[in-house]
Amino acid sequence: MATESFLLNAREQAISWPPGTVLLDVLRDNLGFKGTKDGCREGDCGACMVLLGIPEGEGLAYRTINSCLLPVGEAAGRHIVTVEGLNQPDLSPVQQALIDEGAIQCGVCTPGLVIALAGFLLSGAPLSEADGVAALGGNICRCTGYVSIRRAIARLCGQFPGLATDGGASSSERTSALVALGILPPYFLEAPPRLQKLLETPSDGAPGAARRKPRGSRSPV
Ligand code: FES
Ligand code: FES
Repeated sequence: MATESFLLNAREQAISWPPGTVLLDVLRDNLGFKGTKDGCREGDCGACMVLLGIPEGEGLAYRTINSCLLPVGEAAGRHIVTVEGLNQPDLSPVQQALIDEGAIQCGVCTPGLVIALAGFLLSGAPLSEADGVAALGGNICRCTGYVSIRRAIARLCGQFPGLATDGGASSSERTSALVALGILPPYFLEAPPRLQKLLETPSDGAPGAARRKPRGSRSPV
C-alpha cells in the first residue's frame, strides 16, 4: 500500500491504495463520490470523467480525464475535480444550459457532460459550437440523440462573448474569469497555493521530506 495526497474538490485528501487501483474506484467506493459514474471502464463513454489540475505557472492547467483509466497514484500532488466539485448554491451556467435545452434524460452521462463542458471552457479553445462538440467527443449519451446537447453547447458559446476573445489568457487568468462568471466555484482561486503547500508538507514518518512532486506539468496520464 502507498499513501499520497492530493486536492479533491475543495478538500485535501490522503489516500492509500493497492497497486492497480484506478481513481474511479477510489472516488466511488472509498470516498463516496457517486456522481462520477461507472460506465464502460474502458475509456470509451466519458461517464467517469473528472478534471485534473496540474501546476502551470502561478495557476493550474485543467484538462479532462477518464478516471476509469487513471492509476490513483497519478492523482498525487494534483487537483481532482468531480462533478460535485462544480456545484454551487445555484445551478451553474453549464448545468442550467443542459437543463434548459432538454439535454438530460436518464442522467447517467450528465456528470461527464458537465465536466467535459467545464473542461472546454477552461481549455481556452475557440468558443464555437464546433469546438464544443469536439470537446465532448469522448462523451456517449444513449438517450438524447445529441441534438439537445448541441443546443446546450451553442447556448454556452453565445452566453460568454468575453471568453471567446481571451484565448491568450494564462491558466490562472482563465480560471479567475470562469469564477467571476459563476461557471466555477470560488474555491478554485485558492487551489494553486493550497496544492503548493501540500507538496511542501513533509511526509508522515519522513521528517523534512517533501511529498512526491507531480510528474511533469503536462505529462500524459
Ligand atoms: Fe466509460 Fe470511464 S467508465 S470512460
Ligand atoms: Fe441518458 Fe445521456 S441522458 S445517457
